Amino acid sequence: MQTQPLGSSDLQVTRIAYGCMPLGGTWDAAPLSDSTRKEALRSIRAALDEGINFFDHADIYCIGKSEEAFSAVWDEAPNLRGKIILQSKCGIRFAGEPNPASPHRFDFSYAHILRSVEGSLRRLKTDYLDVLLLHRPDPLVEPEEVARAFDELHQAGKVRWFGVSNHTAAQLELLRAYLRQPIVANQVAFNVIHTGMLDEGIVFNQDNPKLARNEGTIEYCRLHNITLQSWGSLAWGLLTGRAPEKPAEHITRTSALLAEMARAKGVPPEALLVAWILRHPARIQAIIGTTQPGRIAASCRADGLELDREEWYRLFTAGRGEALP
Ligand SMILES: NC(=O)c1ccc[n+]([C@@H]2O[C@H](COP(=O)([O-])OP(=O)(O)OC[C@H]3O[C@@H](n4cnc5c(N)ncnc54)[C@H](OP(=O)(O)O)[C@@H]3O)[C@@H](O)[C@H]2O)c1
Repeated sequence: MQTQPLGSSDLQVTRIAYGCMPLGGTWDAAPLSDSTRKEALRSIRAALDEGINFFDHADIYCIGKSEEAFSAVWDEAPNLRGKIILQSKCGIRFAGEPNPASPHRFDFSYAHILRSVEGSLRRLKTDYLDVLLLHRPDPLVEPEEVARAFDELHQAGKVRWFGVSNHTAAQLELLRAYLRQPIVANQVAFNVIHTGMLDEGIVFNQDNPKLARNEGTIEYCRLHNITLQSWGSLAWGLLTGRAPEKPAEHITRTSALLAEMARAKGVPPEALLVAWILRHPARIQAIIGTTQPGRIAASCRADGLELDREEWYRLFTAGRGEALP
């Protein structure tokens, strides 16, 4: 599996990464069951067999159970820790925590960041995270406070590198003005039917554009050597067999085009979805979140699968559901 540096870090990461969100089974207080632990191991093994060396977590996934399920891997492969790269995230808090009236919220406070990392280390049964991301932008962020938390975690050897998720260029710029460590990654939703970051550059100066605020995030990350990581890399299965809640014509059309192109190239459609992400010159790292070994293998067929400009644009135009200007 091809690798690349993660931003300006010394980490050499596989271009396809494994998303561990569903490994804990359910998002409730039920304890982790043996069968869920076994299924998690099956998915992790399938990812390792494909050569994936990068595993993406968050403190909140299945309320901590996904990190806990992952830690079972050390029992069967005690020497694995030094060979793989573990990333986790902090900063999202559930409603009802710690008090019944506490709302769902984002929390980049010093105390929460430190507490969250301690929890991830304990559940993952490891002494350090290779990468810690701030999960979703907190409007109440005090960048000095984040800097203090990062310094302490770094000096204690608990976190090696830092990054963010779902951040715009301006939010990155603010943090970078205060942090003493580089930001090496920005994890964002990105796939053939979720192209807001690209559309911004396409619809600039057009009449009545459907424009979400991105502030040139792709260009900013390329300029500052921040690796973009895509979540939703498999388009949540919506183009490969999972029925959408709200059927949409462009999804049906894109799904048919994907199947036709995949057939012509002799690869599974999942491979084409991931290859479309990897084709972008920003060298985006694609995170795949399927638990199914067959789909993990199918997605990894994207490694070394080259899309030409015409193939990339056919999928892009179909997925955005609108002709280019
Ligand atoms: N930073 C963030 O805010 C954020 C948000 C969400 C996720 N993430 C990370 O990114 C990773 C991947 O994201 P994601 O899970 O949202 O997106 P994804 O990889 O596009 O989708 C994976 C999901 O789609 C399902 N799926 C795929 N193909 C399918 C098919 N043909 N039929 C039915 N279901 C199918 C998978 O179920 P099966 O397991 O059954 O295949 C799984 O539930 C996560 O694990 C997590 O690490 C980050």
